[in-house]
Amino acid sequence: MHVHRFEKLWLVAALFLIVLFIGTVTYGAVGAGFGMVGAESGEVNPTDPFNSSEVRDPGVYKVGEDEYDVYVEARRYRFVPGTENPIEVPAGSTVTFHVVSQDVIHGFEVVGTNINTMVIPGQMATVTVEFDEPGAYGIVCNEYCGAAHHSMAGNLTVVPQSEFDINRTE
Ligand code: CUA
Repeated sequence: MHVHRFEKLWLVAALFLIVLFIGTVTYGAVGAGFGMVGAESGEVNPTDPFNSSEVRDPGVYKVGEDEYDVYVEARRYRFVPGTENPIEVPAGSTVTFHVVSQDVIHGFEVVGTNINTMVIPGQMATVTVEFDEPGAYGIVCNEYCGAAHHSMAGNLTVVPQSEFDINRTE
């Protein structure tokens, strides 16, 4: 059977595109490190998350050498801490955020970093990130949560190690 040269070319190009698309979808699903909310930290009390033994009161906690845990409550329409008081962590540290909600689904995105998670009542969202340099970041809610969703924002400040005072944000 004779197949025209152009026909062959199109066949090869189409096959290449199919493999490419399947490859990118597969990479996005399993290779890029995304996970389901709660896959690591499990369930918490949906109406009173701070009553769960694994959730500490909102604030910054030192848990090791250059390791910090930050507990945040996302609620209509602020982050506690974050909105009224910026979250403050020292540069050169590994920070694990634990974010909970007891009203509706919110988002917790730290702009300019790869921190971006849903916050679902009944689940603790846990994200670990390293901050090498001092800097200032905005925090936004990226799940529609009500009339003032667009104003739900906060701040995260990474301060030089020498200026860090844990008592300021606790
Ligand atoms: Cu909280 Cu949108």
